[in-house]
Parts: sequence; C-alpha cells; structure tokens
Amino acid sequence: MNLWTPKRVETEFRAAFGGTKLILVSNREPYIHQDSPSGIRCEQPAGGLTSALDPVMQALAGVWVAWGSGKADRRTVDREDRIGVPPWDPSYMLRRVWLDPEDVEGYYNGFSNQTLWPLCHMLVEKARFRRRYWEAYRKTNRLFARVAVQEASRHRDPIIWLQDYHLALAPGEIRKRLPAASIALFWHIPWPAWEHFRILPQKVQLLEGLLSCDLLGFHLDQFCDNFLECVSRELDARIDPNRRTISYRGRMIQLGAFPISIDERQFHAFATSPRTEKRMKRLLARPELQGQLIGIGVDRMDYSKGILERLAALDLFFKNYPQFRGKMTFIQVSAPSRTRIKAYQELRARVFQRIEKINRRYGGKRWKPVLHISEKLTQVDIAAYYRLADFAIISSLQDGMNLVAKEYIACQVEEKGVILLSEFAGAHEDMDLALPINPYDTEDFAWKIKSALELPAEEKKRRMRAMRISLRSNNVYRWIGSNLRAIHQDRRRRQSNLPFSQKSPSLTDSSVAELSPDLSPAGTSRAG
Ligand code: G6P
Repeated sequence: MNLWTPKRVETEFRAAFGGTKLILVSNREPYIHQDSPSGIRCEQPAGGLTSALDPVMQALAGVWVAWGSGKADRRTVDREDRIGVPPWDPSYMLRRVWLDPEDVEGYYNGFSNQTLWPLCHMLVEKARFRRRYWEAYRKTNRLFARVAVQEASRHRDPIIWLQDYHLALAPGEIRKRLPAASIALFWHIPWPAWEHFRILPQKVQLLEGLLSCDLLGFHLDQFCDNFLECVSRELDARIDPNRRTISYRGRMIQLGAFPISIDERQFHAFATSPRTEKRMKRLLARPELQGQLIGIGVDRMDYSKGILERLAALDLFFKNYPQFRGKMTFIQVSAPSRTRIKAYQELRARVFQRIEKINRRYGGKRWKPVLHISEKLTQVDIAAYYRLADFAIISSLQDGMNLVAKEYIACQVEEKGVILLSEFAGAHEDMDLALPINPYDTEDFAWKIKSALELPAEEKKRRMRAMRISLRSNNVYRWIGSNLRAIHQDRRRRQSNLPFSQKSPSLTDSSVAELSPDLSPAGTSRAG
C-alpha cells in the first residue's frame, strides 16, 4: 500500500506546482511564545486545526500567516514579523499578524466565537449578535487579507489557503487585490442547515466572502449540501448539486468534502516512546488508579463537546450499575479555552460542580469516580492516558470532525480500548466500529458505558485493529493530498479556460479517487 507520507505530499506538490509557495492563513498560530519564570517558553495550542496542519507545513516549507497571540510573540520575530518554526528545527516561516485588544474582543471573542461558533454548531440559544462584533470581524479580516497579499506578493503565483470560520471575509479582500490568485478555504467546523444559518444578520456578506474562493472544503458531504442549500436560498447563483459547483458573478466555485485526520505515525511514536512508557508506569502506581478500569475524555473546555452530558451519563452509570463503583475511574482532561467568554466560564464552573457532586455521591476515601485535570497536558502525558484507557468518550453535541477520536485510536498500542463516539461528531462517518452514542440520551449513554466495559476482549481487539488499519492510510497527509489535488485541478481548468462544466469532476472523495487509486473510496476510513 502506497501510504501518504510527508515525503509523498512534497513530491506530488512539487510535481504538480513546481516551485509554487503555499501560503496558509489561520487565526490560531501553531507556535505561541509566552513569558514564564524561566524565560520565554514556546507552546503549541490545544485544538485540531494547528496540530493537523503543522506537520503538513513542515513537509511543504510554506509560509503560515496567523495572529501573534502570545505575550512574548513580538520579542521573538524578525523585523518583518516572521519567525522560522518549529523553533527547535525551523522548516517553515510563521508570519505573525498583530491585533489590538478591542479587535480581539470583537473579532475573536465576539463574532467568531459568540456568533459563528454557536450558530454553526446549531446551538442557537448560545449565539449573540452584535454590530460591533461584525465591524471588528470585517476590519480584522481586511488586515489578515492585507498581510496574506503581502506574503503572496513575494512569490510567483502562490496558493493562498485560508482556514476556518474566523476568515470568511478575507477571500473577498484578497480577490480584490489579486484577481487571478488561487484561493481556497477549508471550513473546519460544521456548516449548519439553512434553518439555522438564516438567523445570521450578515448571512449574505458571509456567503459572498466565501464565494470569492476557487475551492471551498468541508469535512463532510452533509456540510457541502448545507452550504449549497444556503447559497441557493440566499443568492442569485447557479448551482450544480451533482458536481458541487456554484456559478456566481462570473466565477465558478468548487466545493469538496475532505475529512481531516491526524499524523497517525507521530501519535503512535509518542505512545510507544520510553518517556510515555515511564509516564504510564508512574500513573499506574498512583494509589487511586491501581487496579482500576480507566475511562478518558480529552477536550477543550467547550460546550459543543458535551462534557456536561457525559458527566450526566457517568452519574447515571454509577447509579444504575453499582457493581462498577470502586472499580472504574474516569479521567476528564479539559484544556482551558476561550476563557474570556461568559458561556465558557459558566461551563467551567458547572463542570467542576458536577464532578464534585458525582465524587461526593459515589466516591469514598480511596476512590474517586472522576478525576479532573483542568489544564492542557503535554503530548507525552496525553499519549500515556490514551494508551492506558480502557475506553474513551467523545460526546460532542456537534463537531466538524473531532481528532481526539483518531488520536485515541493511534495510541491504542495494545488494542484493548473501546471508543464511544457521538453520532454528531464528523468522525462518526469514518468509524462505524466505534460504539455510537447520542449524548442527549443519558440512559442509553450510561448503558453504552457499561457495554463498552463488558465487550469481550476479542471483540475489542477486532474493532480497534480494523480502525487502526483504516487510520493508517487515512492520515492527515492524505487529507492535504486531496485538497492540493483539488486546487491543482481547479488551476488547470482556469488556465485552459474551458467551461467549468466540461472540465471538472465533482470533488467528492470518489471523484478525487479517479486521479489516484490510493484515494479510492475503499481506502477511505469507513472501517469495517
Ligand atoms: C476548533 C477550530 C479551530 C481552533 C480550535 C481551538 O478546532 O476549528 O479553528 O483553532 O478550535 O480554538 P481556539 O479558539 O483556541 O483557536
């Protein structure tokens, strides 16, 4: 099997694009410099986007434009606001964008995370609509666009690849300055059904911004279909639903479904490293974990992850199945996230309260049902917990993909673990050997926890092995490979100037497959 590796991405990229530069633009930066008592410390943020894209950028030596959000960021860049990263072995350039505190408030804490985030996760009651949020979002998108254009102008015909919901207006701004540029955007969170999207006061401007791209990527077919429906309801555009193309104001836009993944080999290497094994021994020696069955949940502290729903199910599990009291410990790792936003502060308080209540209700002197780690852990620590855990819970109320599910599988070296996976996480489409859960259905959820623990060892192994094999070929390099091929096809079509309908196949996984046997549907991660 010809697996996707960084080398293969690099070779295919060079063959298709020659010396073209890839300019990636995102809100979050992959390396953040913070002050610490021992001097400046470099951190890698929690969250799927940066951890998935960093290995890709290392392979392609591109330029990454992102918000310089660290306290010590300004002190580590050169005169052009650039720094080579990873700092310990630089292989690509990070260009930092500086934002004023009010813009961070309106653009990041406001429109991105209190308007778009809840709306796209279909949690409408959490969404807040404020004119000033929108104004800051527009202003900041213009700034990102200006910096991206500056970086693009250093290279001949580069590819500008924007990431996520923070930057929906930037494609329009870039297009004004570089009308012939190759612009793509990948939307990492769900695209909501029109019934939800229509609530957004600025829905038309948002769609028009996105339609300045040549290629728009989503994780799932369903998100592409939702987007097409929104465009058909809101704009006077011509849509070809089979080819997933939109014709708007004289331009063609291609949509594609590309489910993101992880660098599976890197996680496996972490899980089997001597440091991780040492860490596992230390953990197992802790009195409260000795002889215990272990469950794990790893999330950013975010209401879309269904942490409270998971705790409700754990509570019911210990109530309904007392035989597990004293025998199973659930470790909840919640990395702080978007801590200035009230909904996140409230969630944090409720999670703490709920865990305390469960521990008081069922726990004793020696045993606590739930251990809470409310900080971001190192990759070695996370890998140790993943490898130890007999089961993992991913209980998102809505999720674009959820890479924790894939990370857990990659670290399950002994193939003894079970994964309980929300039907509402994008990863669910890939993994039909996980135990599906509906996080809102507490009784069934509690019962599924019991079923996971009681699954025969052989069955656990069979499922985990199949998911591991599937993940090996469906890694993040395959994801980037499919995105880049789609961009390449689009450039060829535009260069040869043929009508779109005659040239371009619809960019679903199966049509990308026509280009390479390795991208065939049989090779997708639909395990089992
Ligand atoms: C999600 C988003 C990413 C974001 C990450 C972490 O995965 O899709 O764009 O970077 O959450 O959130 P933060 O607000 O810390 O960047």
